[in-house]
Amino acid sequence: MHAYWDRRIAVFRQSPIRATGLYRRRARDNQLMRLNAWLARAGVASRRKADELIKAGRVTVNGEPGQLNTFVRRTDDVRLDDRPLAMQQLAYVLLHKPAGVVTTASDPQGRRTVVDLVDLPTRVVPVGRLDVDTTGALVLTNDGELAHRLAHPRYEIDKVYLVETWQQPTDAQLEELRRGVALDDGQTSPAGVRRIDGARIELTIHEGRNRQVRRMLEAVGHRVKTLHRSRYAHLTLEGLEPGAWRRLEPLEVDRLRAATRDSQPPGRGPGRAGSSPA
Ligand code: URA
Repeated sequence: MHAYWDRRIAVFRQSPIRATGLYRRRARDNQLMRLNAWLARAGVASRRKADELIKAGRVTVNGEPGQLNTFVRRTDDVRLDDRPLAMQQLAYVLLHKPAGVVTTASDPQGRRTVVDLVDLPTRVVPVGRLDVDTTGALVLTNDGELAHRLAHPRYEIDKVYLVETWQQPTDAQLEELRRGVALDDGQTSPAGVRRIDGARIELTIHEGRNRQVRRMLEAVGHRVKTLHRSRYAHLTLEGLEPGAWRRLEPLEVDRLRAATRDSQPPGRGPGRAGSSPA
């Protein structure tokens, strides 16, 4: 069956009708993909976590145990713990998170979550986290691989925050933030800091530690009054009201991919930040 379609595709490639839907569909169905990438596309886990599932013997392909070097086609019968899986259409969303909504896929206390706000047939989950009171730009996706990379400090994805404090920070305190401050989980990297006016500042960081901005401000003696993320990577909230969302354009997804591309193969040389995922 596969050999038949491989031959048809080879003929189509030479033909003027190669761009027909049939050609594209068959070519896509016959494309071989590493098993961990297939599992990531099924929304199961990042590729690294998928490798762990494969090593634990929990994944089968057409009834045989999957291996780390197994390649699969879109149409193969792939199962996790004997539960059939299906590859999903990849979806990428930018949400303007309003205050009072929790950043989690499901909340044990039954509060409204960011996932509840996004009405899509495919289930997407947030990349990183904004506190319940924080508003602003949040990416959600079912692309486990890209989500994992975006959240990794190695790729230094810019996060720009508008911060309002109860008291006005001094220039010396802003300088401390710029250089990096000592938190209980280590020193923060140098940050971009700009005073907008009085007690309102713009802070650009590329780490994504838990409550990082609030803790940075506390480290220099200030409590945060309001916190808003105005930009994530190159994505701003232009045209999106609080609570509204939109799908990312293909070029926007390409830019996120480009921002998380390794300049050399993994394992060769130190990472830029060399630390563990956020
Ligand atoms: N830093 C914080 O302290 N809170 C957020 O929600 C995001 C960044």
